[in-house]
Amino acid sequence: MPNPKRFDISVVGELNLDFVLYGLPARFELDREYIASDANLTLGSSSAIFAHNFALLGNRVAFHSAIGEDAFGEICLKRLEESGVDASGVRRFSGRKTGITVILPQPEKRYILTYPGVMAEMRFEDLDLRRIEEARHLHLSSYFLQTALRPRVADLFRYAKEAGLSTSLDTNDDPEDRWEGDVIDVLTWVDVLLPNEREACRLAQRDDPEQALKFLADKVPLVVMKQGERGVRARRGKEVFQDLPKKVDMVDAIGAGDSFDAGFLHQFLRGAKVEECLRYGNLAGAFSTTRSGGTEAFRDAAYRKAFFAA
Ligand SMILES: Nc1ncnc2c1ncn2[C@@H]1O[C@H](COP(=O)(O)OP(=O)(O)OP(=O)(O)O)[C@@H](O)[C@H]1O
Ligand SMILES: [Mg+2]
Repeated sequence: MPNPKRFDISVVGELNLDFVLYGLPARFELDREYIASDANLTLGSSSAIFAHNFALLGNRVAFHSAIGEDAFGEICLKRLEESGVDASGVRRFSGRKTGITVILPQPEKRYILTYPGVMAEMRFEDLDLRRIEEARHLHLSSYFLQTALRPRVADLFRYAKEAGLSTSLDTNDDPEDRWEGDVIDVLTWVDVLLPNEREACRLAQRDDPEQALKFLADKVPLVVMKQGERGVRARRGKEVFQDLPKKVDMVDAIGAGDSFDAGFLHQFLRGAKVEECLRYGNLAGAFSTTRSGGTEAFRDAAYRKAFFAA
């Protein structure tokens, strides 16, 4: 049956670059100069990494976001357009700055410092709702970074549901670690919730991830809890699913969660079984870790095709 919608997905969220510096020494003292072992300026931000990688998996993506009037914003747009994302819903805020994130990876974890820029200024009124409706599905990530939009995210999700779209949410971390109740109100309109383990616990206000998963699955039809190298656990009602990722040579885990979301939703929107969605999510998540940043592995078409074919 032909699909009457213009896009498979509308992604609403932040758009900024990641500046990644490798080789952080174990001791990092003030007023001393250290030499990084490598550097990479690449497309960052959860929503943009998701949109970029989801487009490269073969989906029609409309991206709704904001940049400032600067070179960082232009690089972001160029990267998105190269992936096939339709970025005409990205607004330029004149005289303002695009955000940037500095990442200092260590062997297991990483330091992350973000200047939000206009991502904190984009409001519900800045969104083109008619255009958002032109997709089958709505995805939003980084709930807590979008401070101006946040009070109306529930309205946005309700609007999408009423217009017949399915919906998904990846809140990511709350930098203030407050996890206030407004996000729980949004869940009423969410079909798929995609937290990591820590985020699931904070959202549910439970210490035990399994209890958190159960609490959230009472509110959302499908909860998918990412567990880093341990893969993923998911719950639909009383049914629990789990899947392990492939072993890979990891460079860094930047954007692995967003890449997981892209793989998962790629299958979900094709009506695949939960098991297949999880398997594909893990494949995309593991793949993303094999190159620097969140989009470098996906950008290499030959490498991407070979990995997914194997
Ligand atoms: N070391 C690894 N080996 C293989 N796959 C991995 C590894 N680390 C992460 N992944 C894949 O990436 C997915 C997401 O990982 P993680 O739990 O770090 O999500 P996240 O914290 O939401 O990530 P992000 O920092 O992008 O928001 C995992 O479910 C898994 O599929
Ligand atoms: Mg995440």
